[in-house]
Amino acid sequence: MLGQWRRHGSRRGAADLAAGIRMLVLDGRLPAGTGLPPEREVAGALGVSRTMVGTAWQSLRTAGLVVSRQGAGSWTASPSDPPPPGGPPPSAVPQLIDLARAVPSAVAGVDDAAARALPLLTAELGSHGYAEYGLPRLRELLAERYTRRGLPTTPDQILVTNGGHQVLALALRLFTGPGDRVLIEQPSYPNAIEAIRAAHGVPVPVAMTEDGWDLDGVTTTLRQAAPRLAYLITDFQNPTGFRMAEPDRKRLGAALRRARTPVVVDETNVDLALDRTAPLTPLAAYAGDLALLAGSASKSHWGGLRLGWVRASTEVIDRLVVARRGIDLGSPVFEQLVLADLLERPPAGQADRLTMLAAQRDALVAAVRADCPQWTFRVPAGGLSLWCRLPEPMSTRIAAVAQNFGVRVVPGGFFAAHGGLEPWLRLPYTLPAESLVEAVHRLAQAAASVTGCGLPVADSALFAVT
Ligand SMILES: Cc1ncc(COP(=O)(O)O)c(C=O)c1O
Repeated sequence: MLGQWRRHGSRRGAADLAAGIRMLVLDGRLPAGTGLPPEREVAGALGVSRTMVGTAWQSLRTAGLVVSRQGAGSWTASPSDPPPPGGPPPSAVPQLIDLARAVPSAVAGVDDAAARALPLLTAELGSHGYAEYGLPRLRELLAERYTRRGLPTTPDQILVTNGGHQVLALALRLFTGPGDRVLIEQPSYPNAIEAIRAAHGVPVPVAMTEDGWDLDGVTTTLRQAAPRLAYLITDFQNPTGFRMAEPDRKRLGAALRRARTPVVVDETNVDLALDRTAPLTPLAAYAGDLALLAGSASKSHWGGLRLGWVRASTEVIDRLVVARRGIDLGSPVFEQLVLADLLERPPAGQADRLTMLAAQRDALVAAVRADCPQWTFRVPAGGLSLWCRLPEPMSTRIAAVAQNFGVRVVPGGFFAAHGGLEPWLRLPYTLPAESLVEAVHRLAQAAASVTGCGLPVADSALFAVT
């Protein structure tokens, strides 16, 4: 779990080890109360002296992150106010800027839509309120959206869900059992990886390339690993921001058909084209009934609605409804009325929101180029984040110390199914430009404290640049 815990050439092994454990505790991978192996075992496993482990453990105890009792051993604890190792004292830690979430706030107009939906609720109160498939009007509106995108769709091909994320959870129930393989991109959306694990599935990652999808890799994996399900984010992939080009959709659809592999196509980001280009053809046009298109109101309108939907064949929709009964019995009626209103009268603020996100993206790009010139990235045409390549595998170390500098950021490894991606960091541009600029400034300091990024270019020969 510690991965590359030691800084290259560092003589502060105990501090590095403590920082590595601290990260695992703070990000929840070592929950409070987890027993730690005896110091002697840790020393043996890491190939370091017992004294070094003892010193690291002592500093973690002082920080309140580890509790030890004579004869009983040591275990992790949740710190009330941990003094940070290697950073400024707690009193000097500025207010936290949260770059861990790539989700924008609500589009202007959600409250007006809610006000208009309220009287419509009265008409619903005479019913039992369990609309298993979703409110008919909302299903109609969602079907029309796909038909407008060139994919003829009827309302009975739509199931309203509690967020786009639920679509994957339901599809996993339908198509996979314990131990089954699920093809995913690497990097991919961490909660999707979590959902696959929670369903006792085995994620089979296919690495993204510098240009997007490795379709040869996907085709080979479909053939050789015979996954029961694939999960792909074709539109402004999280975290890379890639959008799959039309010819690739065609090729992918044909490969899925040949392998007869069902696929959850996560389109939650489809409306986030910052370059204002129209949505591309949904993969279902090429993969047919194998494709389950997952949609969401979270990015287009507001995550707090907790509404999503799936477009699939009527047969799959019926089976999904049955699968859903083991989890919940439908989505809230009021929120569905609100979403239907938002789809009927698209809020004027939607265009402004894209303009604002594009400006925030540009501010983040400029800030990273100025403060962290060795970090490389591709400027995405849509989506919500920059996927930055760091000059060395130091993502976890940066994330660990970043908290001490007042930034929360998710290390690249979170986007990997089986570890790796240490040289990558996702930076969302969903906060106001000033916060982003300040956050990058702090991240540059955090990075400098763990390597040397931020030093003048003349000193850059000290570390590897890729
Ligand atoms: C790729 C991707 N899928 C799904 C979700 C979650 O969507 P929802 O809020 O509709 O459940 C997110 C949210 O960040 C996402 O980025």
